[in-house]
Amino acid sequence: MQDILTRALAEGGRLMYGAHPSVFFHARRVAFMAREIAARVCPDVRPAHVVTGAFLHDIGKITWPAELYEKVSLTAGDWEIKDG
Ligand SMILES: [Fe+2]
Repeated sequence: MQDILTRALAEGGRLMYGAHPSVFFHARRVAFMAREIAARVCPDVRPAHVVTGAFLHDIGKITWPAELYEKVSLTAGDWEIKDG
């Protein structure tokens, strides 16, 4: 199981960084925060599971058009892509 999680993190990280580095760094920050929160509120949960789930939570962003990462003001169409 650990090997699968490690491979999922590596591949997910590679895909997110390739899509846009901000996606990767956001995912990394969320994973660290989720690990800390989980350790405090549910110590029986395996940290690797929490980290993997949190890190990959935005994996769908790799499908976004490149210009969407840089936009400040989003249109209704952009939100449809993000929420889709
Ligand atoms: Fe997110």
